[in-house]
Amino acid sequence: MNKTYHITTFGCQMNYSDSERIATVLESLKFKLASESEADILVFNLCSVRQHAIDRIWGLINKIKKGKWKKKNEKSKNAKEQKIILTGCILPADKKKFAERGIIVLDIKKLNEWPKEISKITNYRLPITGYNLSKDYFSVGPKYFSKFSAYVPIMTGCNNFCAYCAVPYTRGREYSRSVEEILNEVNKLIVQGYKEIILLGQNVNSYNSRIDPNKNNPELLQINYSEAFGKNSYSFGKRGVKTINFPTLLKLIDTIPGDYWLSFLTSHPKDMSDELIKCFKTCRHLIPYLHLPLQAGSNKILKAMNRKYTSAQYIKLIRAMRQTIRTISISTDIIVGFPGETKKDFEETVKIMKKINFDMAYLAEYSPRPATVAFKLKDNVSKAEKEKRKNGLNEILKKTALENNKKMLGLITEVLIDEVNDKGIFGKTKNFKRIKVIGKKRTINKKIIGSFVPVKIIKANVWNLEGEIA
Ligand code: SAH
Ligand code: SF4
Ligand code: F3S
Repeated sequence: MNKTYHITTFGCQMNYSDSERIATVLESLKFKLASESEADILVFNLCSVRQHAIDRIWGLINKIKKGKWKKKNEKSKNAKEQKIILTGCILPADKKKFAERGIIVLDIKKLNEWPKEISKITNYRLPITGYNLSKDYFSVGPKYFSKFSAYVPIMTGCNNFCAYCAVPYTRGREYSRSVEEILNEVNKLIVQGYKEIILLGQNVNSYNSRIDPNKNNPELLQINYSEAFGKNSYSFGKRGVKTINFPTLLKLIDTIPGDYWLSFLTSHPKDMSDELIKCFKTCRHLIPYLHLPLQAGSNKILKAMNRKYTSAQYIKLIRAMRQTIRTISISTDIIVGFPGETKKDFEETVKIMKKINFDMAYLAEYSPRPATVAFKLKDNVSKAEKEKRKNGLNEILKKTALENNKKMLGLITEVLIDEVNDKGIFGKTKNFKRIKVIGKKRTINKKIIGSFVPVKIIKANVWNLEGEIA
């Protein structure tokens, strides 16, 4: 009988994309997908950005160990225990704690070793095909969970060490995937008819990869970059090695013909170059949407966070973006209650939130993470005060999001349909907003999932739009 698996993914899109690669490895071992209560192997792809998520895992593990999850277990005490595998972003201290409790932790970067490890854990005789990771774990082809929208990682890790952040300690140093591999993956997706390509990385705009003449990239080397993409599109190294930056990567991808949207997550304000901003005008596939984490409005707090920009510089970037592309929608991340954030500091965040008119903001209460620099500082803003600050920002967001959505009333815009159910047709606009589409009975057909449809915006809500097929 076939063995089964289930993957539960926590955290950001990077983890979601990694889970697509884990699925490939498990299916190559002839595991079949099953529900969490039925699966023989439960993989948890963890996120360590906040303590809360890790605490939840302990709760889940205890539940599974007691057999409370597996339906069969409730009936028969002899039923086999579900095997748990943890992976993803886990801080070293947590890894140790899991190991002490005998819980298996596998490294996502060593996906090639998973078949061997899994056969050890499970005692199943697995048809190990073996993985030859020529360069890195990205060379495992993903089992894309969507048939029309794909995440394509271009880099992983982070060198920025923001004072609050666990990522540099869970994902390690920055590593950029090769230009060739990225172009191949995107090309294949477009040929298969994918409509949306989302490039991923903790800090995509510090992407930096070398094209080496000794490593078979003849086509990429023949491109006259400065003629095609401008004089800043690459830098020279020894032996004709070219270093490709993020704007040049975008321009290279953009030359792939087809009807698709291109976007990227996440950028760091300190690496938003003029050249990258210009891409929004010159790359025809790039959609008018930018996620640019601000984190705080006070320069004192930004400095303590080690963010390397001031609020004035951030505002300048947003202005430049909006001047380049009027219809751009902008989202951000903000942390409230960082150690030492006074009411006055917080007021600076309020001010900038009001000034910028964000379309969306992911608001978080500061959570101390072991290993980070800020962990040594006193977490001196109370839980109640953090909540109050977060709610305050949410009220501002509701106003600015609605205001921006209202500006779209009457426009006819392209919508990528991603869901059709009893409640209607749903999708997202070219500037990344959720929209409910009202269609005639005959158009309510699952066949339109994954296609572009022209829609006239007829209603603006705070968190979404409504429209009718034009
Ligand atoms: N690379 C991205 C962010 C990755 S983490 C960037 O540079 O912005 C995603 C978001 O989680 C962050 O933007 C931040 O808002 C939030 N976050 C990270 N660490 C946090 C912490 N210790 N407490 C609360 N929120 C945190
Ligand atoms: Fe974390 Fe800062 Fe790196 Fe983003 S840039 S992943 S917030 S350390
Ligand atoms: Fe979390 Fe790792 Fe993403 S810590 S936010 S899953 S990079």
